[in-house]
Parts: sequence; C-alpha cells; structure tokens
Amino acid sequence: MAEEPQTEEPQAERRSRRNLVQMLAIGLIASIIGIAIALTIDWFPPLASKQAKQVSDLFDVLLVASVPIFVLVEVVVLYCVIKFRQRPGQELMDGPPIHGDTRVEVVWTAFPALLLIGLCTYTYFVLRSIEKPKPQTMTVNVQGQQFTWTFSYPQLAKGKKFNAVQLYLPKDQPVQFKVRTDDVIHDFWVPDFSIKIDAVPGITTSYRVTPNKLGTYPIVCAELCGIGHSTMRGTVHVVTRQKFRAWLRSQTAPPKPPPGAKGPAAAAAVGKQVFTGDAGCGGCHTLADAGSSGKTGPDLDQALKGKDLAFIRQSIVDPNAQIAKGFGKGIMPQDFGQTLSKQQLDALVTYLRDTTNK
Ligand code: CUA
Repeated sequence: MAEEPQTEEPQAERRSRRNLVQMLAIGLIASIIGIAIALTIDWFPPLASKQAKQVSDLFDVLLVASVPIFVLVEVVVLYCVIKFRQRPGQELMDGPPIHGDTRVEVVWTAFPALLLIGLCTYTYFVLRSIEKPKPQTMTVNVQGQQFTWTFSYPQLAKGKKFNAVQLYLPKDQPVQFKVRTDDVIHDFWVPDFSIKIDAVPGITTSYRVTPNKLGTYPIVCAELCGIGHSTMRGTVHVVTRQKFRAWLRSQTAPPKPPPGAKGPAAAAAVGKQVFTGDAGCGGCHTLADAGSSGKTGPDLDQALKGKDLAFIRQSIVDPNAQIAKGFGKGIMPQDFGQTLSKQQLDALVTYLRDTTNK
C-alpha cells in the first residue's frame, strides 16, 4: 500500500505534461493561422501619405503581438472547459486542492509588463517620427464650420487672400494642418492619410502629413456636429507641383468668364463657378442649373423663385435674417460676406436670381 502513491505520482505528472504540450501545440497552430488571417485583411484605405504607412506598420506589429495573446487565453479556456469538464458520477467530487505557484505568478506579471513597455516604446517612436517638424513644411489652415471645411494657404497667397472648399496638395510636400472651428467641435479626417484630429472651439490643433500618392481622396468630419454632420465632407486633390501651381494661380486670379462668353452669359458663368466651386453651395442646396442636389438647405429653385437681388444677397451674407420654412437658424455658414470677394458675391447673386426666375 505504501508503494502506490509513488507509482501514481509520476503518472499524473506525465499526464499533465502531455496536456500542456497538447495545449501549446494547439495554441501555436491557432496563432499562426490567426496572424496569417490578420495580416491578409486590408484594414486601411489606400495609404496616401508617408505617415499612413507608418501607422499601418504599427498596426501590423500590434496585431502580431495581440493575436497570440488572444489565442493563448482562448485555448486555455476552451481546453480546460473540455478536458476538465464534470463527468457523470463526479457531481459530488471536489477538485484537487491547489496552492499558489510563485513561478507562474512571476511569469504572468513580468511577461505582460515587458510586452506593454516594448509596444509603448515602439509606438512612442512612431508618433515622434510622425510629429517631427520637416524642412520646408507648407502650412494649410483648415477651418471647420457647420457644415463645411474651408482651406487657406497663409504662406502662398502672397497678400491675395483666398479660401478654397477643395483642398489641393502637392505630392511629396510636407504639410502641417492648423485646424480651427467657428462653432462646435468637428474632426478633420482624411482616411487615406490615416490621421485625424478634433477641431475645438477656441484653440488651434494641428497635425502633419506628407501626401505621397497622386489622387483624389475624401475629407470627412468625424465628430457628430449637428444636423448636417453627414454632409460635412470635402475632397483633397493630391497633384503634381506643376498642377498645384496652376491651381494656385486660378485661385488668386479674379473670377474670369470662360473664353468666348460675353455680357450676361459671361456673368452667369462666373456666378455658377462661385456656386459650384469657391462657395461650395451645391453641397447643401439643390439647384437645377448647377446640377446640385444638396438637402441640408432649402431647394433654391423653389426658395428663390420671385425673389429680388436684395433678398438673395441678404440670404447669403446674413442667412439668419430670414429662415426658410422647415429649416433651423445657424445651419448655413454666416461668413460668406467675408470669404467671398465683392466680385464673386455680385456674380453669385445675379446668377441665382436669373437662374431661378427663368
Ligand atoms: Cu462637422 Cu461633423
């Protein structure tokens, strides 16, 4: 009888070692499959900036580090549930008494601590590299307001102030966005650049990107900011330096009718340019002639029918003076009187009167 415990002890030990080896093997296979799946999934939109690549690489490292941990926890849980489940006849039995194990406790404290410190350090260096000032950075002021983005280039306009509703950036040019808001909190986000930041009333926030892929990408407001939040979108054009300079010239030049147009036709063409371009009216308003179908503001073909120049001008520069039925105050930006030149405003007002009173 005294011999029995000695023969049973090694047997139990062998069994538990076999359990552990089985568990490790399952965990290893599951980790490899998990990492392979995680790395095949396309988590990001096309990477269109240097920083997007850095963010994407960081994300991959985090995935590779977290998949085995997830797998480890799940394998241990599932393995124990299956292997050590209660079998018929064991209802009244108690499990073996377990005492603390210092070695295991040290390992499960030290390992996560080291892993966290390692990942935090890596993340810190990536962030520092993304935020590092680069030589010859171009500043772009980004102004958020319900429900549009406007952009200006303080270093480039050379005294000729202009605001753009479409963002143009030269490829491979380091850019620093200075983000401000006129009213509530917005969030300036170009998903393809992989960075976003809140626009907070009263302060200027900023981030840097270097776009490195030609193309057209959406700008999104990523902070619920009111009724028109989902329409607060824009477009960024990443273009060659040459194209950028040409665009800049077209922005700072006074509005010009298309070649060949004369008299009222020329004026109407300029007004339409302002409507669809600089002022970005079509994003919120429906106007048949301009082919726009925005729904945030009144349908102008209806709302401006029979109205005179004075009413239309007031509706643009002081939109809260008279509110169309069914729409709220403060939805339309109130600074068109400042952001549009007198020429642009005159052309826009005349164009709107003529096209809605045909
Ligand atoms: Cu601005 Cu949402």
